[in-house]
Amino acid sequence: MTPVIRPRRLRSTPALRRLVAETVVAPSDLVLPMFVADGIDAPRDISSMPGVVQHTFDSLRKAADEAVRAGVGGLMLFGVPAPEDKDADGTGADSDDGVLNRALRVLADDLGDSTVLMADTCLDEFTDHGHCGVVDDCGRVDNDATLERYVSMALAQARAGAHLLGPSGMMDGQVAAIRAGLDAEGFTDTGILAYAAKYASAFYGPFREAVGSSLQGDRRTYQQDASNRVEALREIRLDLEEGADLVMVKPAMSYLDIVRDAAEIADVPVAAYQISGEYAMITAAAERGWIDRDAAILESLTSIKRAGASVILTYFATEVAGRLA
Ligand code: PBG
Repeated sequence: MTPVIRPRRLRSTPALRRLVAETVVAPSDLVLPMFVADGIDAPRDISSMPGVVQHTFDSLRKAADEAVRAGVGGLMLFGVPAPEDKDADGTGADSDDGVLNRALRVLADDLGDSTVLMADTCLDEFTDHGHCGVVDDCGRVDNDATLERYVSMALAQARAGAHLLGPSGMMDGQVAAIRAGLDAEGFTDTGILAYAAKYASAFYGPFREAVGSSLQGDRRTYQQDASNRVEALREIRLDLEEGADLVMVKPAMSYLDIVRDAAEIADVPVAAYQISGEYAMITAAAERGWIDRDAAILESLTSIKRAGASVILTYFATEVAGRLA
């Protein structure tokens, strides 16, 4: 009789399962996105992201220190200006006095090279219309005019001490423009974490609350359509040609096929962003007792890593790093 082949044998004890695990999430894989706001005197809860807050400068420094001590791989900072500081061109983004650039300087000073300090290089938090770029007379986001703004923003962030810049606006040519701008000013060591394949996603909903977004309408003329895979390959290839140091896919869970594609074509590290809506879904279901919170979080991160991401942006970063340590 032919013996039954028994794959279950390797699953029979926790030690065996650990021995043969193909994918292990490490604290250093995880990057914590953080929001810092101007004009608040206490951290402000984000109702659709329980456990995540808009930080004051004080609470930001404390949470950043905690994250670094938990062993996270890096921090990704988003700025939330006071509503009256927003304008059509998003001038708060590249002003050295803008909330994000001030916060970067503070964290760079506190943390030095003990972590990787990253900044969102995008105008949407700073524009009064909420778009990721500047808008022309016909109401369209003007690609090339936006690139000039991104270069100026990138330089402000590099001056403020960011190690990696994360252009997330999906403008054509943004990586090349920022790279050239940085090099011309001598910031040759400042890297670019390119949001290479970023989809127009309903799962960004909670983020819009997190940054107090003013957006009316949508971002479908610049972010990608969920239907398209080949187009993502093209976007990734272009960002690699333009000099991206890492490429990112976003969101993560609904786009794991794209993460896999990216890992296959990229000769740089691949990142994936477990976004606000993914955080909200897990958190809400766990609050209701419908899923096991810790297990669901680790399973989601393991799946993103298994798909091919070696860096994962997640609002769970500190919590998970602490648990894994
Ligand atoms: C744009 C940006 C967005 C996110 C990160 N950078 C929002 C958007 O494109 O609307 C989303 C992050 C999240 O949902 O967690 N600056």
